[in-house]
Amino acid sequence: MIYKIHGFARALIMNIQKISLINEEAIINRKEYILLVFAAILFIVYPVNAHADKTSIACIVCHESLGGELAKPVSSWKGSVHQQNGITCDYCHGGDTSVNLGNIKELSQEQFAAKQALAMSKSHGFIGKPVGKAMFDMCRQCHSASVERYENSIMGKAYLGNKGGPSCVVCHNAHNNTMPDVTKVCERCHKDTTGFDRIDPMDVNETTINELSGIRIKLAERKAKGSEPSFLPEFPEELGSFQIGFVAFGAVIVLFIIGYIIYMILEKRR
Ligand code: HEC
Ligand code: HEC
Ligand code: HEC
Ligand code: HEC
Ligand code: HEC
Repeated sequence: MIYKIHGFARALIMNIQKISLINEEAIINRKEYILLVFAAILFIVYPVNAHADKTSIACIVCHESLGGELAKPVSSWKGSVHQQNGITCDYCHGGDTSVNLGNIKELSQEQFAAKQALAMSKSHGFIGKPVGKAMFDMCRQCHSASVERYENSIMGKAYLGNKGGPSCVVCHNAHNNTMPDVTKVCERCHKDTTGFDRIDPMDVNETTINELSGIRIKLAERKAKGSEPSFLPEFPEELGSFQIGFVAFGAVIVLFIIGYIIYMILEKRR
């Protein structure tokens, strides 16, 4: 979505630049501006609704009908960053989403089992609940850089080597993927989490451990002196897609006003 807005904003700027080249023929009339603004609104609104849930996906229909634990992945996934980006069950788990379930309540036990086997068949690349390297490979399809960073870290190695390291989903959840509440999630396994919010948990290595002890010494010194530690200002919370849309919308409006002013100036010169 951001790319779309970015591309569009660039096109808009190019248009405005074209006008400012004072080529009489290139002067766009007011109607086109109105069209441009409507197109801008569409570009912002469309991606938000484009991936409204796809209820015809067999995994979703059947798992919702099962209720309980087997339906939970569906309800968590709905509204998640993956659902918003059109990443359905099969992108991660494989399998065949196109199995026609008809009216699922009318299926006999045998029919149900047959449909289930068809949708969740190994021949369609179905992966059940992934563990260890299988989970990394699942995420790697789209997040190769993040996976590589984590698998080479102390904790990533401790996970792969069955030595108690956290898996991706301990920090990000399996279906409603979010960013972890850093010290809180760490407390599950670490007693002392001082300074944990100032390192990259995806990339804990020897250097990080040294950095961490540096941070901890500083913190202890400051505490002894009784002054507040003055750290670098932190990044603002990640913008939600609504806020991004809002900011982008504002930017488009500002561009439009600038374009309009240039247009009026040129119009007066004529
Ligand atoms: C007709 C019903 C039905 C359909 C369609 C279906 N499932 Fe399932 N699924 C089940 C049932 C029942 C279970 C639990 C029993 C089992 O594991 O065999 C299950 C279990 C699972 C599990 C857990 C397996 C494990 O190793 O614990 C995953 C993951 C899963 N389904 C994903 C999917 C995906 C992805 C799709 C679509 C491609 C899908 N399912 C389609 C009925 C269905
Ligand atoms: C971003 C990748 C991803 C997507 C998309 C995804 N899953 Fe999963 N799913 C996982 C992972 C990872 C696990 C293993 C969770 C764990 O180890 O706790 C899992 C586990 C499961 C399980 C086993 C029970 C459980 O909760 O651990 C079921 C059932 C399941 N998924 C069904 C689905 C269905 C149905 C969909 C579509 C609505 C879906 N998944 C979409 C990654 C995904
Ligand atoms: C088929 C592609 C695909 C797969 C497989 C996939 N993701 Fe994603 N993931 C995306 C897309 C697209 C986004 C949204 C755009 C972005 O932020 O990169 C996203 C976003 C995320 C985010 C939020 C990132 C942010 O910057 O806010 C997390 C966390 C995440 N995925 C974790 C996982 C985990 C864990 C797995 C494996 C269990 C996984 N993903 C598997 C495509 C995928
Ligand atoms: C110990 C907790 C933890 C584990 C385990 C973990 N992450 Fe992260 N992850 C984070 C935190 C915190 C951030 C945000 C800060 C950052 O960028 O490092 C993040 C960021 C991300 C992002 C956003 C882009 C990026 O690389 O910064 C993605 C995608 C992601 N993680 C996927 C994964 C995948 C896939 C795995 C498993 C291979 C995984 N994470 C394991 C804590 C974790
Ligand atoms: C599921 C348990 C688990 C969770 C949750 C977890 N860790 Fe770890 N962590 C480990 C294990 C296991 C090691 C490896 C210990 C070793 O090999 O010395 C480790 C090592 C580390 C180390 C290097 C050694 C040390 O203790 O200083 C740091 C730093 C670290 N983790 C930070 C974090 C942060 C930050 C989080 C939260 C975002 C986190 N961990 C969450 C299990 C966990």
